[in-house]
Amino acid sequence: MEALRSLGQLVLALSIFSHLSLLAYSSSTQDLQIISAERRIDLTSHIVKVFLTLKVENPGTSPVSEVLLAFPPTQVDHLASLKAAITVGKKKKKSYVPLEVNPTELPDAPNGAKSFTISLLNPLNAGETATLEVLYILTHSLEPFPEEISQSESQLVYYRDSAIILSPYYIKQQTTFIRTPSTRVESFTRVESTDRAGSEIKYGPYKDRSTYSYSPIIVHFENNNPFAVVEELVREIEVSHWGNLQITEHYKLAHAGARHKGIFSRVEYQSRPHAGGVSSFKHLLARLPPRVHSVYYRDEIGNISSSHLRTDYLRSDLEIEPRYPLFGGWKATFVIGYGLPLEDFLFESPDGRRYLNFTFGCPLAETVVDKLTVKVVLPEGSKDPSAVVPFSVEQHLETKYSYLDVAGRTVVVLEKRNVVPEHNSHFQVYYTFNPIFMLAEPLMLVSTFFFVFMASVAYLHIDFSICKSS
Ligand SMILES: *[C@@H]1O[C@H](CO)[C@@H](O)[C@H](O)[C@H]1NC(C)=O
Ligand SMILES: *[C@@H]1O[C@H](CO)[C@@H](O)[C@H](O)[C@H]1NC(C)=O
Repeated sequence: MEALRSLGQLVLALSIFSHLSLLAYSSSTQDLQIISAERRIDLTSHIVKVFLTLKVENPGTSPVSEVLLAFPPTQVDHLASLKAAITVGKKKKKSYVPLEVNPTELPDAPNGAKSFTISLLNPLNAGETATLEVLYILTHSLEPFPEEISQSESQLVYYRDSAIILSPYYIKQQTTFIRTPSTRVESFTRVESTDRAGSEIKYGPYKDRSTYSYSPIIVHFENNNPFAVVEELVREIEVSHWGNLQITEHYKLAHAGARHKGIFSRVEYQSRPHAGGVSSFKHLLARLPPRVHSVYYRDEIGNISSSHLRTDYLRSDLEIEPRYPLFGGWKATFVIGYGLPLEDFLFESPDGRRYLNFTFGCPLAETVVDKLTVKVVLPEGSKDPSAVVPFSVEQHLETKYSYLDVAGRTVVVLEKRNVVPEHNSHFQVYYTFNPIFMLAEPLMLVSTFFFVFMASVAYLHIDFSICKSS
């Protein structure tokens, strides 16, 4: 009974506490205002990049340590990357310090708007200002219209957004610039203060907009950049302590632009390369590390020889050419494989563990990966693997058996959806390894030979003849 009562008190205390913190929280969101905001939306590729510069001020009385960002629900679904940094120093000594960004729930956000918090390094005191740089990337956000085009037509797409920046704060002054790949803009929504010059559309400046203001706009424009989407990519990185790192990459590539209609004419394609199939793509560039060797590129039919490799001491560029050019809606499945010197990627950490330091993401330039799986196959006998990745990924372990394996190899599997070139940063896989296991394979080989040898000796000495016994 006594225990039950104290439990009741605890629950009461907890619920009061959570209410209090909620109150404190919602009041802190009102405590900032944006003095000026500038947004630059880059629509020149199929990956939409948005640069946002916010000058925030704390007009309140208590310090604020978080700045909130809001996104319409349709954008959050396509948000591949969101980064923020704070500007420190002035003019020439200006530098950017990255800040942590996390999703959050705001009870008072209208129409399903989703929020993120940027955690400041030092709380912003009353009356102080700070300048933040935000970069976010949206995938699958350009909708082809018309949905189907013939070989000779150019590709047109829609982009939807708001002329006014969605924000939980009052914004004193703001401007949005939208950059299109060419000057061919079929149409764009005109609201107050809309301007267009060349390949740039300007919305604003707008003054004194209240929290969560929104003004929908649509831009319809030409975009013939390769809409290269890898629907699925599996990268296997196999560590061999005998000095090699073997990479095998399985691609399911698609052209995610306007679907191709009618028949494909190779004659027209080849005779008028600029007029026919402007939105199709023929070449792909894979950026590989320097010092690659044994590079191959094959599809289900066999090796494809039309690839060019250029290497220098910084990187290797592999230009690959699928068997046919890709038009909207078409797909290609292929495998790229290569070897790398182990000493460039495997190191020993101060605590004695070994670690692989390699790049995450997809080596193909300007490509979206809908689902990426990175498998790091550790040598047999490796223990306690752990992965360090600079963004959230799903992780699990598998075991792989190959030729001469007894216990199998531990495979660290990392999975991520909606991957863009910004995810091509380094990640590490740490593990412990007892060098005695280096001897396992040679010992196996030796003992196998020994066994075969003994068996053949025995065989030669056994007399199988039937005559003798009779
Ligand atoms: C394909 O190329 C690789 C590397 O050059 C080679 O090892 C392999 O034997 C080739 N396969 C076929 C089927 O030609
Ligand atoms: C991984 O490699 C990159 C590039 O060489 C380097 O900048 C980074 O410091 C390395 N990380 C670790 C933990 O060694």
